[in-house]
Amino acid sequence: MSIPAGRDGLPETRGAVGAPVVRKDATAKILGEARYVDDLVYDGMLHGATVRTRAAGGTIERIEFGPGFDWSSFVVVAAADIPGANATRMIEQDQPVLACDRFRHAGEPVLLLAHPDRGLLREALAAVTVHESPNPAPVFSIDDALALRGEVCAGNVFRDYLMSRGDLAAGEAAAEVVFEGRFETGAQEHVYIEPQGMIAHVDAGGVLVVEGSMQCPYYVLDTLTAVTGRDAGAVRVVHCTTGGGFGGKEEYPSHIAAHAALLSLKAGGRPVKLVYDRAEDMLATPKRHPSRTLVRIGARRDGRLSFLDMDFALDGGAYTTLSPVVLSRGVIHAPGPYACANARVRGRAVATNHPPNGAFRGFGAPQSIFAIEQAMDGLARQLGMTPLELRRVNMLRPGDRSVPGQLIDDTTDFDAVLEQALRESDYLARREAFSAFNATNAAAGRPLRKGIGLATFHHGAGFTGNGEVVLASEARVRANADGRVQVVASSSEMGQGNTTTLCQVVAGALGLPLDWVTQAPVDTHDVPDSGPTVASRTCMIVGLIVEQAARGLRAELIGKAGLPATAADEHAFAAACARYLDGHPRLEAQARYEPPANVAWDETVFEGSPYASYAWATYVAEVDIDLTTCEVALSGFTAVQEVGRVVNPVIAAGQVEGGVVQGIGFALFEKVVRDGNGAMANNRMTNYIIPTTADIPPVRVFFQEQPGGTGPSGAKGLGELPMDGPGPAILSAVNFALGTRIACLPVLPEDVMAALQAAPAPEVA
Ligand code: MOS
Repeated sequence: MSIPAGRDGLPETRGAVGAPVVRKDATAKILGEARYVDDLVYDGMLHGATVRTRAAGGTIERIEFGPGFDWSSFVVVAAADIPGANATRMIEQDQPVLACDRFRHAGEPVLLLAHPDRGLLREALAAVTVHESPNPAPVFSIDDALALRGEVCAGNVFRDYLMSRGDLAAGEAAAEVVFEGRFETGAQEHVYIEPQGMIAHVDAGGVLVVEGSMQCPYYVLDTLTAVTGRDAGAVRVVHCTTGGGFGGKEEYPSHIAAHAALLSLKAGGRPVKLVYDRAEDMLATPKRHPSRTLVRIGARRDGRLSFLDMDFALDGGAYTTLSPVVLSRGVIHAPGPYACANARVRGRAVATNHPPNGAFRGFGAPQSIFAIEQAMDGLARQLGMTPLELRRVNMLRPGDRSVPGQLIDDTTDFDAVLEQALRESDYLARREAFSAFNATNAAAGRPLRKGIGLATFHHGAGFTGNGEVVLASEARVRANADGRVQVVASSSEMGQGNTTTLCQVVAGALGLPLDWVTQAPVDTHDVPDSGPTVASRTCMIVGLIVEQAARGLRAELIGKAGLPATAADEHAFAAACARYLDGHPRLEAQARYEPPANVAWDETVFEGSPYASYAWATYVAEVDIDLTTCEVALSGFTAVQEVGRVVNPVIAAGQVEGGVVQGIGFALFEKVVRDGNGAMANNRMTNYIIPTTADIPPVRVFFQEQPGGTGPSGAKGLGELPMDGPGPAILSAVNFALGTRIACLPVLPEDVMAALQAAPAPEVA
């Protein structure tokens, strides 16, 4: 059998880019051999627990330790025990590690306890009372925060951005039809499979070691050095098998790591395990930012947009966290994939007395894309056009400039993406058939209605603007004398598959079988900072640098160890590695990310080209609604996307399926209910309802492969894209089915009922 030559004249091997290889982490997870943080047990280990505030802000008066416990047998840590800064290292240093006087929200950590007996610890936790003088006027909504009905922080606004293009007044004057709307989305919990957790101890060499569940080991390191006052050499962060992140393990692990570290340091370096149960995790950790967006959008009679004016606001909760960057991404994505010369998007991240909200897959874009997509539907209705016709008129095409200012290149045929989605979903025929079905059922008094809706959208991958310049991510590739190779990077596998895709890229670049390549354990004492595992950046950006490092390693072997430049198989590679390591202490190559020249972004005026690559998509949702129960059941879902080169088709399809399911939850199921203190009242999986397989139709996933991305072999980022489309597509389907104008997510049966009572379903639009 002849092996076809691939790039660089190397043979294409099993497992190279494009192959649907089995995930490297699959076997250990399926067999139950993977060790998550709570599986790790050490001699002399203590368990940690967190005492929290109850009121929605206020002042801590005193802390009372109840009777019945030998408190001297507990390790107790308060703010006064913090050797360094009492703030986690984020954009602003406004969030205390432990509150000591004033606090801003329910569930804020005040005191840490540790004890060898986990059961006793739980009882002791209930015996500690924080006496609080509560804030009399807490703020729980974006509108109240902006109207200054109560003060969370000065002005109640963490960030205020303005993206303004063209001449809004001229655009308004030219508009022949104007649509105005207000759109809202709710908080969303990540529901990663594994709750948050960390273990800290001080090793024999005096190094503070913190291991656990996380996306961003170097963020955790940054907080630990600041909080403990140690330098980076005296702190080591180790990534454990991590059961999902979705953005929820982007920032909060820094808090838990600091807490575990403080307990361990107070306990003389003994190991302390701090693992949240589901209820504490849901209560204390960040959610997706609730949003409200005011939209005014106008067009000429032919549908061409003449202006777009959006006021986008996010509920940031009580501290800044990552809200400014979530807001920035939301603002940049707010105009959607449409051309509009006169546009203004104002974005504000608002302070409330809710627990802080933070990163969640999509990072603000699902909220603003929801608003623009719904507004496009509303405008189409007023123009007497279909949603599809209005999109075809205004969709960005090569040579156009997006509202932020990016020149649209020809690496995506967005029309082809749209057309494939229409074809695969049979959109036009179904829309007509569903109209007829609904009219017949209405006339006959039958309760079933059917709807179909679409969303067109794009999502930029990687950090915004010069963010990737600042990160200057590095990664290494290392080889042993037997030719086995390790990817050395801080990218954290959490179920999304990046260990496998990075190894595929390296195996491809070196012409090795996939099982010769593994990822080194992610440990800050061994791996360089490849940037955080966030923002749809790992495959595209870290993939590119590990590919460059692999090429560097190969060049080194060709130059110094006699590796034949062509037609070298793995045995020749291993022989060259052995020869090289005869005369050198190690065989390693490093690369650093150089962003492509097309990224140029002015953050002060929100203008330029914020992302090197965008993934593009059209999603179509179909629903069945029973007017008796008001239940919305998805009957079909079609997801067509262009993500550049697909590195692993099975992993990529899994990312889309998972994102769509998370989007279905966002649209139809997941509602965070607050108690009177703004804390999550339904913080259990029995009452915070997420979709199950019974609620999910077959999700039909298609990739239009056009390898023009800036990642390895032309790959683009993919992880967040599928979160953007389901919300707007599903709500469009619901409103089509019922003739309603619902404008908020999630849509629960009670919301459908209220909408029907407010405006009884017309025969059909
Ligand atoms: Mo994040 S929401 O993991 O970029």
